[in-house]
This record gives sequence, C-alpha cells and structure tokens, in this order.
Amino acid sequence: MYNLTGRNIVLGVTGSIAAYKAADLASKLTQAECSVDVIMTPEAAKFIAPLTFSSVTGRPAYASMWDAASAVTEAHVALSRRADLLVIAPATATTLARFAAGSAEDLVSLTALATRAPILICPAMDPNMFEHPAVQANVETLKARGVYFVGPDEGRLASGQMGVGRLSEVETVMGAIRFVLGRGGDLAAKKIVVTAGGTREQIDPVRYVGNYSSGKMGFAVAAAARDRGADSVLITAPTELADPYAVDVIRVKSAMEMRDAVAEQCARADALVMTAAVADYQPAEAIGEKIKREGRDSLTISLVRTPDILKDLSADEGLIKVGFAAESNDLLENARKKLKSKGVDLIVANDITAEGSGFGADTNQVTLLDKSGAEEELPLIGKYEVASRILDRVVSLIETRQR
Ligand SMILES: Cc1cc2nc3c(=O)[nH]c(=O)nc-3n(C[C@H](O)[C@H](O)[C@H](O)COP(=O)(O)O)c2cc1C
Repeated sequence: MYNLTGRNIVLGVTGSIAAYKAADLASKLTQAECSVDVIMTPEAAKFIAPLTFSSVTGRPAYASMWDAASAVTEAHVALSRRADLLVIAPATATTLARFAAGSAEDLVSLTALATRAPILICPAMDPNMFEHPAVQANVETLKARGVYFVGPDEGRLASGQMGVGRLSEVETVMGAIRFVLGRGGDLAAKKIVVTAGGTREQIDPVRYVGNYSSGKMGFAVAAAARDRGADSVLITAPTELADPYAVDVIRVKSAMEMRDAVAEQCARADALVMTAAVADYQPAEAIGEKIKREGRDSLTISLVRTPDILKDLSADEGLIKVGFAAESNDLLENARKKLKSKGVDLIVANDITAEGSGFGADTNQVTLLDKSGAEEELPLIGKYEVASRILDRVVSLIETRQR
C-alpha cells in the first residue's frame, strides 16, 4: 500500500448512526499496515463499543479524554502529536461545530485542536442537517483553515430518507486518506496522464470490437500517482471500475476518442503512462443501424488500422512516455521492438498468458525495459505495487529529462 505502510492514523469516531462503518475503516487501515489509534466521543460509544475498535486495531481505543490521559504516559495530547493524519469518520454536526468554534470538550475535538497533522473529516448526518446554513458555515470555516473533507455522499440514509448526508464509502475514504498523506510527495506539482481499459470500436449501434482489458493496471497507476502528490489524470475506455478519489477521470470509448483526449491532456503534462489496450483495428465504416441476421449465413466486416496514439502525439519534448507491451509470445523481443518503434522512455513488458498476470488479475508480473538497454524483471506483485515501481522510474526520468 506504499504511502499507508507504517503511518500513524488517529481515527476519531463521533455519535452518528454510521459509527459502525468506522470499524470497517479501522480494520482496512490496520490491514494496510497503518498503526490505528481510535478515539471516540462519549456519544459515539453509545453506538459502538471501544472494544470493537481495539479488537480490529490491536491497540487501545479511548472513549474519554480521562481514560486517554491515564493510559498514555505523555499526556492527553500524546495521540495528537503521534498522528501522521487525523481522520474523523463519521463526523457529526456537533463535532463540526465544536471544532469550528475551537472547543475541546471531548477527546476528538481536543485532538483536532492539538494536532498539527493534516485532518480529514467525513461528515454523516441527516440531509436537512447538512444543508443547514449553520453546518455549511462550519464546513466552510474548517475548509478555509485547510481541513480536508470527503463526502457526505448522496443516497439512502439510515432514517430511510434520501439526500446528501451518507458517510462516504470506506473505499472512498481510504482513497482520500492516501490522497492527503501523499500531498508533498515526489510527484507533487507534476501532471501524470494515464490511459486504461480496452477501447471499443463500434460495428453498429449495439456491437463493438473490444478486448479483455479490465483497466485495473491503469487505475492502479493513476491512484499511485495521486498518492505521491501528482495531479493525476486518467483517460479510460469503458471499465467496471469506480472513479478513484481525487483523480481526474476522462471516460472515452474508441481509440480515436482516446487519441484526442491524450493529445489534449499531454499538452501540459510531465509524463504519459499508456496502460490502455487500444484496439489496433476498427471497422472500416460505422454502420448506422443494427445489422440483422435474416438473409445472411455469414458476415464479413472490413477492419482498418486505428490511429497510433503515441506516434500521433506532438507533445512537447520533455514529456516522459511509458508504454506497455502486453504479449502472449516472444515477450521481451516484442517489447524491445516496441521500445524503439514507439519512441518511449520505458516499456513495461507484460506476459498476459502467465498465471496471475495480465487482464483482470489483481497481480501482475512485468519486466521494465529502458532506453539504455537495461531490463529489470519484477516478481509477481499487486498491480498497485507494479504501478509504484513504474512511477519510481518516472520520478527519476523526470529528474534527468532535458526540457
Ligand atoms: C439514533 C441517533 C442517530 C444519530 N445520528 C447522527 C448523525 O448521523 N449525524 C449527526 O450529526 N448527529 C447524529 N445524532 C445526534 C448526535 O448523536 C448528537 O448530536 C451528539 O450530541 C453528537 O455528539 P458527538 O459529536 O460528541 O459525538 C444521532 C442521534 C441519535 C439518537
């Protein structure tokens, strides 16, 4: 998980019906090798027991500042000093008001005032409450002080009401945590453009020529770039995957649309990572109406070459280009050819037939080939980790580039 490993996260839980979801968040953070200290308001402890949190984090959970003061040797503010990040999830209207007013009545608001770590707030409340000018004013005050917010989301609340007030999904909160921790990382102020997914070339209004790309590799690169502070742009062909938090997602369908989006985004970018499986061929002509089966025993569709996105790119000289070679045979030989013919700085050779590798898998086994002729074979690892290794290379290529 890279930017989560070994981080000290203080998780503040307040008195919302959504407090039970914080247990899942505490568990996911612990699984990602964070050290998670849970602090709760006395009201939160009416919804969920501290024991639930201490059971999933393996660390004490505090529901009173008096407990914390006796258990932590330094003082009641020790947790605020230790934190790399304070997350308040769920955050009630009352807690927002206390924090905005500078009140330290309980362990959560006290820690929020005492810490100098970044703070991420995840509000959860009835939609009418959230819309109220008093709550909105507190949100604005806190935002103006540099506090990060995620959500609340729109949807069905525990009360049965629909509206904006739901605690953001745990996956989204995890993305926001990684985003906040990544601020000031080694890709800060750099724009990284990533392509993902398999393009769809329309045959008729209901059919297309496609491929099995899931988009997971590109989504992982875009998220990993975000987690290092980059301005991360993801141009993706259709996939099942949800937009990653704080990534600028541009959805396209065909190779042509992807080429245009890449050209536009790369005009002011630092690096382009092309993980998308772009179709090599598209139907020669778009058929406006659905092709009927009646009266046909066979059907021939004529295909023509799609544009070559990298070759058509007239981006400025300093753009670092990373290509992928997804091959089913003669992997390294084909990758070496592609490195030259595409004029890229780095090729990621990906044997899509290997066990646990390629389309749809959560892991990947790749070899990195650069212009100097060096080849680095990586073990079978998670796609986020592969993405991080690719971005390590991008960081050094950006440092040494000539512009
Ligand atoms: C069943 C129930 C659910 C509640 N859910 C919320 C909620 O989702 N958001 C909120 O702001 N307040 C909610 N409240 C009200 C808060 O619990 C109350 O304002 C409390 O004082 C908050 O204290 P705290 O911020 O110190 O935890 C709820 C109250 C009850 C009884």
